[in-house]
Amino acid sequence: GASAAAPTYAGMADLVPALPLETRCPPFALRQYGGFWLPEAALRRGIPALHAGFVPRPEDVLLASFPKSGTTWLMSLAFATAHRATHPPFSGDHPLCRSNPHDIVQFLEVGAALAGRTDAAVAELEALPSPRVLATHLPYSLLPARVHAASRIVYVCRDPKDALVSYWLFTRSASGSVGVDAESLPLQQAFELFREGRCFYGPQWRHVLEYWEASRRRASLAAVANVLFLRYEEMLLDPAGNLRAMAEFMGCGFSEEEVAGGVVDEIVELCSLEKLRSMEANRSGRRNASGIRSDAFFRKGAAGDWRSHMSPEMGRMVDEAVEDALRGSGFSF
Ligand code: A3P
Repeated sequence: GASAAAPTYAGMADLVPALPLETRCPPFALRQYGGFWLPEAALRRGIPALHAGFVPRPEDVLLASFPKSGTTWLMSLAFATAHRATHPPFSGDHPLCRSNPHDIVQFLEVGAALAGRTDAAVAELEALPSPRVLATHLPYSLLPARVHAASRIVYVCRDPKDALVSYWLFTRSASGSVGVDAESLPLQQAFELFREGRCFYGPQWRHVLEYWEASRRRASLAAVANVLFLRYEEMLLDPAGNLRAMAEFMGCGFSEEEVAGGVVDEIVELCSLEKLRSMEANRSGRRNASGIRSDAFFRKGAAGDWRSHMSPEMGRMVDEAVEDALRGSGFSF
């Protein structure tokens, strides 16, 4: 497997042109590697930079997700929790009031690395004060072995049908931001590609399964990363309970006094979709550092909203593809 012999991925850029190509998923060309469809630029530059130069710290928290599964929410919750001493959730001057969550929490595999500045990418991550809260869409098997060994990973999993519809709508609302021609991707096509696993960081079920398996191994194998496996739907039902479990896992659990004093509820409130959406930094017209319209990250935030866009028949077909692929794995959505 990809992580067996601690590869450096130094020769990756030369290998990429020979990998299977998929160009029907805007906004980036995808290449198939290690069983996943990954943005070409992440493969050429982001992954090699990460493997070559990223040094995890014991207090790091890595937020991992398949795209459109609750990354932005997780970023906000984890950052607000890890830094609540310096930034009280209702200070009025909280970083989340001033910046889009994607400008506060950095992705391991994007940023400067995508611009080809490998050293700058690593230096950017090095410069962040501890405890660092970082994000990734990379599959577990493509993370450096030292991240497996050293990092605490919080994973958020979402119903594949909602992730699919959320992605499809995102390409529309983000269109124009990064040269995306959204109309070029009809829902029917996004749906067909998704079922074949041909989408950003797809197949979705395989992405989820790898992290789920890693989360199950954590108790038995000390050398394997700690992975906390969360579900978006459960977070919606009980945000405070999930936040408390996450804080505990991150090594900064809430004290009885904090709970009694309402700190948990304040963070949940600060990070709610309605609150974040209302921030000036997340209003339409603003763009985050990657050039994506800041408001595109905040839509409905519901479970089962795929029904507003896909027919029951299409939903059933997604479920069937996912169930077939997961049969025997022990995992189900
Ligand atoms: P919908 O498009 O279904 O509304 P990601 O952050 O991984 O890109 O996922 C985006 C999804 O998370 C979108 O789902 C978005 O509305 C939802 N989301 C964003 N911020 C949220 C928040 N603070 N709370 C709950 N859901 C949120």
